[in-house]
Amino acid sequence: MKLDVYLTPDDLSEQLRVDAREGLTAKPKWLPPKWFYDAYGSDLFERITKLPEYYPTRAERAVLAAHAADIAHETGVKTLVELGSGSSDKTRLLLDAMHEEGTLARFVPLDVSETALRSAAKAIDSDYPELEVHGIVGDFSHDLDRIPGGGGRMIVFLGGTIGNLAPAERAAFLAEVRDVLGEGEWLLLGTDLVKDPQTLVAAYDDADGVTAEFNLNVLRVLNRSLGADFDLTAFEHVAVWDPRHSWIEMRLRALRDMTVEVPALELEVGFRAGEEIRTEISAKFDRHRVEAELAKAGFAAEHWWTDPQGRFAVTLARAVE
Ligand code: AVJ
Repeated sequence: MKLDVYLTPDDLSEQLRVDAREGLTAKPKWLPPKWFYDAYGSDLFERITKLPEYYPTRAERAVLAAHAADIAHETGVKTLVELGSGSSDKTRLLLDAMHEEGTLARFVPLDVSETALRSAAKAIDSDYPELEVHGIVGDFSHDLDRIPGGGGRMIVFLGGTIGNLAPAERAAFLAEVRDVLGEGEWLLLGTDLVKDPQTLVAAYDDADGVTAEFNLNVLRVLNRSLGADFDLTAFEHVAVWDPRHSWIEMRLRALRDMTVEVPALELEVGFRAGEEIRTEISAKFDRHRVEAELAKAGFAAEHWWTDPQGRFAVTLARAVE
């Protein structure tokens, strides 16, 4: 097993400073969702994926279970690259099918979290002895050029994480993915789909409050990493469906007027009661939108699969001229 680290803890802490300064001094305030995922936040996310309200993980797994063999057969992939790989749990369905097909030689998981990546890569390395595992600690928005070449590759981006990117970032990201691939190589993309607002909001505001805890965790990260003094009991979790943008927004709403110190930035941040920090957008798609955005980036959508209830889609796209 090989592990390339392009994002050191120092790089990450510098990025956190830049993001926190920019987001907390903006109007309205925002913070990027990337910072949810320290060890505790990654754990909370794993718990979210098991909640009754949070259907995307189960729905996507159902699609992959039903079609992994088709995907493996049609593509004959030699190198599977997974962006934002996290636990790489669902990816095993693809690895199994590609191994069965007899073409797969290499697995390249890429994630910002070195701890998550190390443990996922290690587990896969020991469970798939013939597979060359080459982990990359990096950011899917900056480090795509680190992906090894060789042809016969498929980049997979699952979970609907592409929905965390704003539309312009999404277009730039897809263009970059297309850029690292040669003609005839593959992208497998998971996208959550538009559905009734109650189902969507419940998925981001579960009854047990796990998502609320996950959302608040970004403040915990700022407290620990930047010495900030956010009072977590002075913010509440908010999840709203924005039909105009077709996305769920998560926010943290201040429950009282307050001033928060962020010593590492020599910054004081004032809040008014009711003021919100936007912490995540999670865009929801339909088939037309996914195929149009892929086409614009230079991909032909060859297959569109959903779970039986039509909640979540996986698209197999080929890099074209
Ligand atoms: C991991 C980005 C796909 O947007 O649904 C879960 C993160 N946020 N609950 C999503 C998340 C709140 C999740 N992704």
